[in-house]
Amino acid sequence: MKEINIAIDGPASSGKSTVAKILAKNYGYIYTDTGAMYRGVTYLAIKHHVPFSDEEKLVELLDRYPITFEQTSDGQKVYANGEEITEAIRQNDVTNGVSEVSAWSKVREKLVEVQKAIAKNGGVVMDGRDIGTAVLPTAEVKIFLVASVLERAERRFKENQAKGIMTDFDTLKQEIEQRDYLDSTREVSPLRQAEDAVKVDTTGLSISEVVSVIEQIVETQK
Ligand code: C5P
Repeated sequence: MKEINIAIDGPASSGKSTVAKILAKNYGYIYTDTGAMYRGVTYLAIKHHVPFSDEEKLVELLDRYPITFEQTSDGQKVYANGEEITEAIRQNDVTNGVSEVSAWSKVREKLVEVQKAIAKNGGVVMDGRDIGTAVLPTAEVKIFLVASVLERAERRFKENQAKGIMTDFDTLKQEIEQRDYLDSTREVSPLRQAEDAVKVDTTGLSISEVVSVIEQIVETQK
C-alpha cells in the first residue's frame, strides 16, 4: 500500500508524541519527533554555555554536534554527535528555554532541511508545531491536536509524578501557557493549524480513542 506522510501539530503536551508513536508502530512508519531536535539544540546551548540569544552560535552548535535519531520499538533515541540525549532533553531547563531557541530562523532552516529529508520517500509520522504548514505542506494527512490547558497540565503532572519528579501544578500550567504563547506568536513558522488540517480535540478522550479517530482519517487517504 502507498506510504503516506502524516503530519501532527499542536500545542505543548497535547499528546502528539504519544499518539504519533502508536500510529507509526501500527503502520510500520518512521516516527519523527521534531520537538526533540529543537530541544537538542537547547540542551547543547546550555551544555556549551551558548546564550539562547546568539543565533549564529546556536547554528554553529548544530554543525558541530549534529542531532540524529535511532528508531526503537517504542519510539526513538536522540543523539547529539553520538552522545545519547534522549532523557537529558526532557529536563526543565531545556523545556523552559526551547521556545526562545526555536524562534530563530537559521536554527529552523537547518532543522527543517533534516526533517524534509527524513520524509522525502513517505512513510513518516512527524509531530511538531509547523509540520503541516511549513515542513510537509503536501502531507497526505494533517492533524491538529488540541486539548484544554487544564487537561494538558494534568497529563504532564501525572507523567512527572510517575517519574518521581515533584512539580507544582500551577507552575506547570503557567509554563505550558507561556510556551504556547511564545510558539504561536513568533515570526517564523508559528504554531497554527494548516488550512487543510483536521482538528482533533483530545479533551476527555483516551489515547486509544484519539488513535482510532486519526486512523479513520488516515484510511480515507491511503
Ligand atoms: O514537542 P515539544 O513540546 O517537545 O517541542 C518543544 C519545543 O520545540 C516547542 O515548544 C517549540 O518551541 C519547538 N518546536 C518548534 N517546531 C516544531 C517542533 C517543536 O518550534 N516543529
